[in-house]
Amino acid sequence: MEIRRGRFEISTNPARLDRGRIHEFLSTSYWAPGIPREVVDRSIEGSVCFGVYEGDAQVGFARIITDRATFAYVADVFVLESHRGQGLGLWLMETIRAHPDLQGLRRWSLVTRDAHALYRRVGFADVSNPARWMEIVDRDVYRRSAASGRPSPPAPLPGGEGGEP
Ligand SMILES: CC(C)(COP(=O)(O)OP(=O)(O)OC[C@H]1O[C@@H](n2cnc3c(N)ncnc32)[C@H](O)[C@@H]1OP(=O)(O)O)[C@@H](O)C(=O)NCCC(=O)NCCS
Repeated sequence: MEIRRGRFEISTNPARLDRGRIHEFLSTSYWAPGIPREVVDRSIEGSVCFGVYEGDAQVGFARIITDRATFAYVADVFVLESHRGQGLGLWLMETIRAHPDLQGLRRWSLVTRDAHALYRRVGFADVSNPARWMEIVDRDVYRRSAASGRPSPPAPLPGGEGGEP
């Protein structure tokens, strides 16, 4: 899928993704600091990825983790700082919500620190029944793997501090 608006384009062609730039952004993001390049590569390969481009230069990204039948999780959404505030993030989310492979799903989900207003514009609402939701969150996973030199050291038992998503 490729759609154009002015000088910008959104594409789901995995060959166009600038994996170096995606890794650079994510490894300094508030939600995935220190994420290894190899993990970013694997995450891209297992997802439906959307790139926002100005010419050949990638200026935005989002990754949808999905079975393309019942569920989609929206992850790693960003627009480069230089390109924010001109509607690209909203256009990206609208494009994702309209994608033919992502229709008729029973649930969409995401976690955000402060971009709720953006996601509300494309239909997201607060979790209606938090008591039914459960999770396992391992916020230190990338730091431990960097320290140990192994890809996936064992996670500690739950009960760690709450932090950002
Ligand atoms: C969130 C992000 C992708 C939005 O991209 P953008 O291109 O600047 O967004 P848009 O210009 O399309 O803005 C769309 C609307 O969402 C709102 N919005 C955007 N980012 C927001 C934020 N962080 N908090 C609250 N509202 C936000 C805007 O105010 C705008 O609403 P308006 O038109 O009524 O003013 C971008 O700010 C970004 O990359 N942030 C850093 C990474 C991040 O936090 N990603 C989200 C992780 S869940």
